[in-house]
Amino acid sequence: MNRLLRVFVTGGAGYIGTHTCVELLNAGYEVVVYDNFSNSNAEALKRVEKITGKKVSLILGDIRDEALMTESMSGCDAVIHFAGLKAVGESVEKPLEYYDNNVQGTLCLLRAMEANSIHSLVFSSSATVYGDPEYLPLNESHPLRTTNPYGTTKLVIEGILRDLYRSNPLWKIMILRYFNPVGAHKSGLIGEDPQGIPNNLMPFVAQVAIGRREALNVFGGDYPTHDGTGVRDYIHVVDLAVGHIKALEALESPQCRAVNLGTGIGYSVLDVVNAFVQASGKSIPYVIAPRREGDIAACYADPSYAREILGWSASYNLADMCRDTWYFQSKNPEGYLLS
Ligand code: NAD
Ligand code: UFG
Repeated sequence: MNRLLRVFVTGGAGYIGTHTCVELLNAGYEVVVYDNFSNSNAEALKRVEKITGKKVSLILGDIRDEALMTESMSGCDAVIHFAGLKAVGESVEKPLEYYDNNVQGTLCLLRAMEANSIHSLVFSSSATVYGDPEYLPLNESHPLRTTNPYGTTKLVIEGILRDLYRSNPLWKIMILRYFNPVGAHKSGLIGEDPQGIPNNLMPFVAQVAIGRREALNVFGGDYPTHDGTGVRDYIHVVDLAVGHIKALEALESPQCRAVNLGTGIGYSVLDVVNAFVQASGKSIPYVIAPRREGDIAACYADPSYAREILGWSASYNLADMCRDTWYFQSKNPEGYLLS
């Protein structure tokens, strides 16, 4: 039996949130999702219920609505905080929106938690807080710096959480620094459903494979990597979701720590394209385009601290990630609402 029974999940209707809700429900937790659907919809949660055969309580609300959140999380034992805006380019154009949504929203959440005497929190951070790596693989003691407002919101929130723990050691906080989440649940019912032109590699590749886009622009062919294209640590979203359950279970005693969630393996853009061709049996036309501003050559995790602290390590490989992305894409060629 879980010690923590009811979990309040902000942003639970989103990509990583839905997959985590499935793992929570399967592990016997009750789930209360709090989301404003700014980048998601109710259909995704219906599918979570279909996969698990269990009910999700949903509250439609904004994390900046402190009063509604305070009321909504009453009776919960812990919080997983996914809600936030995440597009790097958009954050450069609209920094105030990003600071308001992500930082102000988190302050409201933390006050609502205090008002309810809830002190257990798992927070979605990102490998973007390491900036341009000084060394690889990235461990948690690598210096922190950011290159865009989105990244800075994560860094500021991490700082707020450390200060909060220092002020009141009742807090139990796990900061999870995700590398590059991809893939989908094996049912093909939930997955990543970006609005408009995808910013990220895997959904773009999937849309080329299904015929929604003509060709992939490979941003840069002259990086100092094995084939000249950018290298990242792609991690299956189900592995990531399981990492959240392990993080909740590890919140037995007061603490505030940051842990990488990655596989430790770096793959290039062309490695991903080749793996996707294998998984889908489709051709993926691509052109080598100029580098994307702000991109780094390579980024991958040292995942050993997650193994030590959470007893967690990734179990899916790149072929699995491409297979499951392709299955979701084929079953939902136009995304959730039109499939
Ligand atoms: P997502 O956009 O699919 O999910 C975020 C959810 O939060 C959405 O359902 C959205 O409607 C909701 N939301 C946003 N602002 C809100 C607000 N003010 N009030 C209530 N709900 C709000 O994104 P995701 O990929 O599932 O990412 C989840 C978290 O993980 C985010 O904090 C993101 O920054 C972080 N993260 C994501 C990645 C990635 O590549 N996907 C990498 C590192 C970190
Ligand atoms: N890429 C292309 N073409 C595309 C899209 C991406 O060549 O159309 C390349 C990029 O140049 C990069 C790699 O594919 O080399 C991965 O790019 P993504 O946009 O998928 O991912 P990033 O590593 O740039 O960024 C992601 C999230 C950020 C997060 C960061 C670190 O989008 O929010 O991982 O966790 F901060």
